[in-house]
Amino acid sequence: MATLNIVYYTGTGNTEEIAKYIGEGAEKAGATVKLINVEEANESTVDADFIAFGSPAVGAEEIAPEMVEFFEGIKDKIVGKTVGLFGSYDWGQGGWMDTWHEEIINEGLSVVNDGLIIHLAVDDDEKIEKCKEYGRAIVG
Ligand SMILES: Cc1cc2nc3c(=O)[nH]c(=O)nc-3n(C[C@H](O)[C@H](O)[C@H](O)COP(=O)(O)O)c2cc1C
Repeated sequence: MATLNIVYYTGTGNTEEIAKYIGEGAEKAGATVKLINVEEANESTVDADFIAFGSPAVGAEEIAPEMVEFFEGIKDKIVGKTVGLFGSYDWGQGGWMDTWHEEIINEGLSVVNDGLIIHLAVDDDEKIEKCKEYGRAIVG
């Protein structure tokens, strides 16, 4: 069975919620899913068939420093993979995801469907379905 590890940073829980729904979608599609807070992640966190990374927009359209640091430590292990990227934002227009996407591509990786961005919390059916669909796409 395919495995998906989802590693995320969250400040107030919104990106964690996205991670959970992505996980549900991937499980429905038959994958075995692990959710890992980046603060508890280590090198073995990326030992899975599929990997997804989540970070909200922080700073001024930036990826959480915790996630940047984690990624630097494991990037050599995942060269050539196609990964999921997702996160929550508020007042911006998703600039942090564009930057993140570009950085990931420069590292020799590909991104499933250009990433998934959700405004604040996953608080309606449309957002829930988007997250689940992204989970299916990551393991599809
Ligand atoms: C310190 C800080 C910086 C932020 N910077 C941005 C930003 O640059 N652009 C944006 O759209 N939202 C920004 N936000 C809003 C968060 O991305 C938004 O609240 C998000 O839902 C937080 O996700 P989380 O609950 O997973 O931490 C910022 C929030 C905080 C607390």
